[in-house]
Amino acid sequence: MVPPGYHSPMAGQPLRVAVLGAGTVGREVVRALSTGWGQPDLELSGVAVRDLAKAEAAGMPSSRLTDAPAHLIADEADVVVELMGGEEPARTLIAAALGAGLPVVTANKYVLARHGAELERIARESGAALRYEASVMGGTPILRLLAEDLVGARAHAFEGIVNGTTNYILSEMAASGASYEAALAAAQNAGYAEADPTSDVEGGDAADKLVILARLAFGAWLDRGSVVNRSDHGKPGITGVVAEDLAAAADEGLAIRLLARARRGEERGPIGAAVRATAVDARSGFAGTVGVRNRIEIVTDRLGTITIEGPGAGGAATAAAVLADLAAIQGRRGSTWAHLPPASSATSVAPEPASWFEGPSGARYPVER
Ligand SMILES: NC(=O)c1ccc[n+]([C@@H]2O[C@H](COP(=O)([O-])OP(=O)(O)OC[C@H]3O[C@@H](n4cnc5c(N)ncnc54)[C@H](OP(=O)(O)O)[C@@H]3O)[C@@H](O)[C@H]2O)c1
Repeated sequence: MVPPGYHSPMAGQPLRVAVLGAGTVGREVVRALSTGWGQPDLELSGVAVRDLAKAEAAGMPSSRLTDAPAHLIADEADVVVELMGGEEPARTLIAAALGAGLPVVTANKYVLARHGAELERIARESGAALRYEASVMGGTPILRLLAEDLVGARAHAFEGIVNGTTNYILSEMAASGASYEAALAAAQNAGYAEADPTSDVEGGDAADKLVILARLAFGAWLDRGSVVNRSDHGKPGITGVVAEDLAAAADEGLAIRLLARARRGEERGPIGAAVRATAVDARSGFAGTVGVRNRIEIVTDRLGTITIEGPGAGGAATAAAVLADLAAIQGRRGSTWAHLPPASSATSVAPEPASWFEGPSGARYPVER
């Protein structure tokens, strides 16, 4: 019998991989699959994009390109790799593939944070695997750590720098005294921030990742709309942080970081979670995490605190997680949550911090030492 989560190709045939999207991440995955990345029995069957000429100019194999992702899934796929991003058509295509029993690998934190519960239900019903390691911390294997390696040590809290763009901006501002606007422009010039940086700088991207982490750490899909992404100054994410506040924080032995924090509440009760510009000890690991790097600390009952740090974005790094998920599907290891019971649902309530740091701008930052 074929185990759940594994779509069987014709006997003796390689597994046909359909890649949806050939941008920063998709291109790297396509290149790896086309150059025989070392994993036998995987074959690139097609690459779906909107602009065929652009993809061809970027070196994507013209014989494999299509602008019809639904047909590619229906006719030429044993596994679907979704790297288009955005809500639609990604959500519909993932749901359709899972519903048809096809395993899916995705990096799409936006879709997972809003539709994860529904996609999990579809995947459990059809027996198809859904894996999404690349959706948090790029290639750094945080989800597998939470969902597999830490199943014997109950996590009761986690906190982390999960967005490289904002961490780069905050470290640049602190190091050089640059304004928020100048540091954002530097991040855009360096390719670390998108032309429209809203979801990064307002903390939406970090809140999406918090929801995905909470599913695996606490067993519940959080209502994404309930996750607060602003500190006490009213502005979301890091958009209210000014250089003077960073300098004053440094004078008090503090650094400002955008932290995603969550603590397990009572069984079936709300989860204490928020994404906020937070004042941390200047000697802490979070303060020492600079530039686009990410860091997450997980507090467990049997193991104490576990820390993982690494690159949180970038085409090659993120592709590494996608390829690892493909290998896991080939190895019939099921979904990212395979070792965990089905999820419940929960809302998030922003916890009241023990103390606040007030900057010269009047903004207040929760203090976490
Ligand atoms: N970039 C990173 O470092 C990173 C890190 C972690 C996770 N992720 C996630 O990975 C996913 C992909 O990100 P990315 O940075 O690679 O995106 P990207 O550079 O914007 O590429 C998106 C690709 O998807 C294609 N596409 C978009 N909508 C489509 C549609 N309706 N039909 C067919 N093709 C479509 C685009 O084709 P056209 O160019 O023809 O429009 C493009 O090839 C996102 O979910 C993102 O959140 C990215």
